[in-house]
Amino acid sequence: MDQILEQAIQALRQSRQIAVLTGAGVSKESGIPTFRDAIDGLWSRYDPTQLATPQAFRANPKLVWDFYEYRRQLMRPAQPNPGHVALAGLQQRYPTLRIITQNVDNLHERAGSTDVIRLHGSIAHNKCFFNCQGDPTPVDISQIEWDRDSGPPPCPYCGRWVRPAVVWFGEMLPRPMLLRALDLVTNCDLLLVVGTSGMVSPSSEMPAEAKARGALVIEINPDTSMISHLADLRLSAPSGVALPQLLNALTA
Ligand code: APR
Repeated sequence: MDQILEQAIQALRQSRQIAVLTGAGVSKESGIPTFRDAIDGLWSRYDPTQLATPQAFRANPKLVWDFYEYRRQLMRPAQPNPGHVALAGLQQRYPTLRIITQNVDNLHERAGSTDVIRLHGSIAHNKCFFNCQGDPTPVDISQIEWDRDSGPPPCPYCGRWVRPAVVWFGEMLPRPMLLRALDLVTNCDLLLVVGTSGMVSPSSEMPAEAKARGALVIEINPDTSMISHLADLRLSAPSGVALPQLLNALTA
């Protein structure tokens, strides 16, 4: 590990354009339950497609809204962990560094990272289900009074449902975010892949895109993943340990 860590530090030192791709693993040490974790307890009798698709929301808006309120409640106590903080520190040192995340928990931003590309949206935000003012139509529900037992709040513009501003199963990723992410991974000279199983596309294809254009791919994950075979270097450690080690070595 030490020799690999040293090689990773050298690679970062020589890099001119770093992109970072993160998944649920980077939030594990913040105690964030993954989507799959949340489908337990009182929600265990549902399958994800009953709780996170536009069809499910149309069929039972209150059920889906209540599931997301439950997930938001689970996430509320979570704090950024040393991995999130170290990534924000790396961005201080490399101002053009950008994070592409599959996570919806906003912990990168809360750790101080800026201009985060959120492929799957943000569970802390909401929008009009019909995007009545344009795609997307953000809605600030803190300004809305409604009967919470009745289900989702009404859109202040059209009066119809408000929904979580996350990407659901079967939905396309926000095109601007996807294009931005592809631009970053195809123009970086180093891609840091942190805490993702590499099972969900299109983010799972991004390491191959970067590598095809000559970037060095470094994976940080205690286990192997679907992209491990692509990694030039693998730091087999929790991101909350490996990322601070990298940052400390670079700023020593
Ligand atoms: N540090 C780094 N990686 C970790 C840690 C840790 N402390 N703990 C676990 N991991 C790794 C696991 O080994 C696994 O490879 O994080 C990865 C998490 O994989 P997933 O739970 O599949 O998360 P992710 O890859 O982000 O899933 C992609 O699937 O659930 C949907 O839309 C959801 O964005 C999510 C997508």
